[in-house]
Amino acid sequence: MNSFISWVGGKKLLREHIVSMFPTNYDRYVEVFGGAGWVLFHKEESKEEIYNDMNSNLINLFKIVKYHPDAFIKELEFYLNARELFNEIKEDIKLKGLTDIQKATRFFILIKNSYGSKMGTFGANKKDMTKAIEYIKEVSKRLNKVIIENLDFEKILNKYDKENTLFYLDPPYFKTEDYYKDIEFNEQDHLRLKEALTGIKGKWILSYNDCEYIRELYKDYNIQEIERQNNLKARYEDNSRYKELIIANY
Ligand SMILES: C[S@@+](CC[C@H](N)C(=O)[O-])C[C@H]1O[C@@H](n2cnc3c(N)ncnc32)[C@H](O)[C@@H]1O
Repeated sequence: MNSFISWVGGKKLLREHIVSMFPTNYDRYVEVFGGAGWVLFHKEESKEEIYNDMNSNLINLFKIVKYHPDAFIKELEFYLNARELFNEIKEDIKLKGLTDIQKATRFFILIKNSYGSKMGTFGANKKDMTKAIEYIKEVSKRLNKVIIENLDFEKILNKYDKENTLFYLDPPYFKTEDYYKDIEFNEQDHLRLKEALTGIKGKWILSYNDCEYIRELYKDYNIQEIERQNNLKARYEDNSRYKELIIANY
């Protein structure tokens, strides 16, 4: 199935390829840099699944959709005609005293209605919100047994590592880290990630942008190069291609 949101760096176009590279023998699946969870929603259910992200608004949205889909939908219907209030909602979400359900609906509306899902400016393309609302219940069911975490990647790797674990990691790409405004990710974090992955007992598979720095950092592992269309640029330029790396320890 599809994710219920778009997300900067989301793996909508690569999800099939990434899942096709998964090993067969694992019983615990961990999506370490969850975002919209395109890979999680695309793969078949595993015995145990963990979704994680450091963005607390995103985690709140996933938890509300999982545990309170009806209340979420009810609150959302109230805002259905609020497209013109986009900027108001953008300010509103920073207010203290909102309930988690109110925060989740505002966050969802901002993602759905913003240009490139960056939550910055209003996107002129009309989204069918009625369909999006209907889909929430299916998403809620899919998340039923998924454990939702809000931790730094290193803690997640330590907490869930065992022989039969498969980690999928999709960190902020090298030199494009500032797309995720609220969370800092710097060169030190790229190194910290590499170090943390070095001692893992389970299997891991990692996606990155294709650059010399990352190729050098992971030169001891299996590196596969793939090419895809650049989502945003492709709207304006024909044949805008983008190279990515899939790196695995198996
Ligand atoms: C490339 S996006 C993931 C996209 C996702 N695979 C999808 O399909 O939508 C990277 C994510 O890493 C999260 N992130 C940034 N720093 C993190 C950290 N230290 N630990 C865990 N997650 C982090 C960001 O909030 C962002 O959602």
